[in-house]
Amino acid sequence: MNKATRKAVIAGNWKMNMTPSQTKEAVEKTAALVKDKNGCDIVLCVPFVDIGTAAAAAKGTNIRIGAQNVHFAESGAYTGEISAAMLLEAGAEYVIIGHSERRQYFGETDKTVNQRTKAALAAGLKVILCVGEVLEERQSNITDEILSMQTKLDLAGVSKEDMQNVIIAYEPVWAIGTGLTATPQQADAACGCIRSVLTQLYDEKTAESVTIQYGGSMNDGNAAELLAMYHVDGGLIGGASLVPEKFDAIVTAAQ
Ligand code: PGA
Repeated sequence: MNKATRKAVIAGNWKMNMTPSQTKEAVEKTAALVKDKNGCDIVLCVPFVDIGTAAAAAKGTNIRIGAQNVHFAESGAYTGEISAAMLLEAGAEYVIIGHSERRQYFGETDKTVNQRTKAALAAGLKVILCVGEVLEERQSNITDEILSMQTKLDLAGVSKEDMQNVIIAYEPVWAIGTGLTATPQQADAACGCIRSVLTQLYDEKTAESVTIQYGGSMNDGNAAELLAMYHVDGGLIGGASLVPEKFDAIVTAAQ
């Protein structure tokens, strides 16, 4: 982490877990544990139907609430989709866009990721944009090319000013939910590669100010060594964010 030029952000991605009643309990428990830990921003990205409950439970605490996807249209005939305005009014301040599970299982492409990103920013949401290579790409030594391509396509048309509201999550697909974690050196190199792409797209000052998280089996046991790396400014946490004590330990490692 380099807290001199950027913010550390620890974000939980609950994925498709927790009902509203479970949400209330989990947010309250997490809030009590992370209270006064102000060395990083803390976000919980919850299922759509849990946002209102989570926002109410997080009110007055240092936890912010996020969603896990957003549609790019303002409104209209898009059955099953949710707009940025709906998320904001429900209490979300952040939204994850382009998670690899959406890319893998729900046909998300760099084009739709870019459309969603621009719509979310225009509406005033903060975006957690996910990029990352699959195992075959790492084994073929094209990780940097993949990260560069995704970053450029996903951020096409996003201004330098808007980048103040974008967090990038580097999530190697082979490390998500598998228990396999990138080594601190692999995570740092990949986050550094993304930062150099941001320098190309914008300028060095902007690139140095963007929070780049690592995600993929980050947990209470490995968070400290990952977060110690210069380019790793936080974490996007799946499984471990469902257990308040584990999530709190990661927040503590980011202080
Ligand atoms: P994981 O998920 O921590 O369970 O690997 C991370 C993510 O998908 O954001």
